[in-house]
Amino acid sequence: MKAIVVTEPGGPEKLVWTEVDDPRPGPGELLVRVRATAVNRADVSQREGHYPPPPGASDILGLEMAGEVAALGEGVTGWHVGQRVFSLLSGGGYAELVTVPASHCLPIPDYFDFIQAAAVPEVFLTAYRNLVDHGRIQAGQRVLIHAGASGVGTAAIQLAKLRGAWVAATAGSPEKVARCLQLGADAAFNYREGPFAPKVLEATGGRGVDVILDPVAAAYWEQNQQVLAWGGRLIVIAVMGGTRIEAHLGQLLRQNWQLIGSTLRAQSDEYKADLTRRFWEECEPAFRDGRLRPVIDRVFPLREAAAAHRYMEENRNVGKIILTVDGPES
Ligand SMILES: NC(=O)c1ccc[n+]([C@@H]2O[C@H](COP(=O)([O-])OP(=O)(O)OC[C@H]3O[C@@H](n4cnc5c(N)ncnc54)[C@H](OP(=O)(O)O)[C@@H]3O)[C@@H](O)[C@H]2O)c1
Repeated sequence: MKAIVVTEPGGPEKLVWTEVDDPRPGPGELLVRVRATAVNRADVSQREGHYPPPPGASDILGLEMAGEVAALGEGVTGWHVGQRVFSLLSGGGYAELVTVPASHCLPIPDYFDFIQAAAVPEVFLTAYRNLVDHGRIQAGQRVLIHAGASGVGTAAIQLAKLRGAWVAATAGSPEKVARCLQLGADAAFNYREGPFAPKVLEATGGRGVDVILDPVAAAYWEQNQQVLAWGGRLIVIAVMGGTRIEAHLGQLLRQNWQLIGSTLRAQSDEYKADLTRRFWEECEPAFRDGRLRPVIDRVFPLREAAAAHRYMEENRNVGKIILTVDGPES
């Protein structure tokens, strides 16, 4: 098969479309002919050599896919060759073929094409894990979503609104702020136009927020503390704004705060299967009637993955960047 391979750690030019061995499905796995995959920020870090794949995972990039079942591994039941499936991957999506535990796969509903299906798993499962499992958000609670126009942010805004929360977002341009509001955010602030904390406090009548979903980390620590309400959960999902902070743990104690670090890729196969099942059970009806939708910014052919990476690194996307593999419907 053909795949995008990282020839050596470095820039987007290190991504090369080349011939590699076909993967073979192990027990409990499906072999899938990939029709669409997507770019995630983690792919950029992995390409640069900063984020090695977990043990046992493919060293080919790509954390999600939509495609057609090409073969069933030993012991797999309930799936058939040719069936349209989509899933999270621990790697291997930037390729014509990929193997994945059958328990991680969902059938693509008739209202999604491959591009839409490939835009869902990584960002919506990240949002679900963090807002539901960690954030325990309830109707009426207040949530702040940083990088609100990112792939994860666009999913998280919609999911938090679906669960009845009041939602604020931050983003880095007036256009991105407008998109966050269109997606349902009750308030959105351009962090380049001054500190977000006073604006969030003003918008919440001084009460602050119950949950913060934060991929920025150190650069937002001080302001996050200013806006996190008593009993609040600060969930760190990346460190785009640095790793080092000086913390006053007495304040954490007094405020009954929870500081949570969370990476989806490192979770067990069992957890990912259970997360996928719970997510789809709750959210499928909302995708069906349009209350949730995949947010797709641009589509590139997989062989042009380098251009897609440059586009993401320039922070130009709102929502997902999709990579398509040649095929009838993609
Ligand atoms: N822990 C997990 O399980 C997990 C899973 C998936 C993703 N993530 C993380 O979630 C984040 C979003 O992922 P994605 O793939 O959806 O990303 P994405 O679509 O590439 O969006 C990232 C956005 O973050 C903003 N940004 C970049 N650097 C920033 C900085 N220093 N300070 C503030 N904002 C900054 C930019 O938007 P602006 O123009 O608004 O600045 C950029 O477009 C990434 O950090 C990713 O690593 C974590």
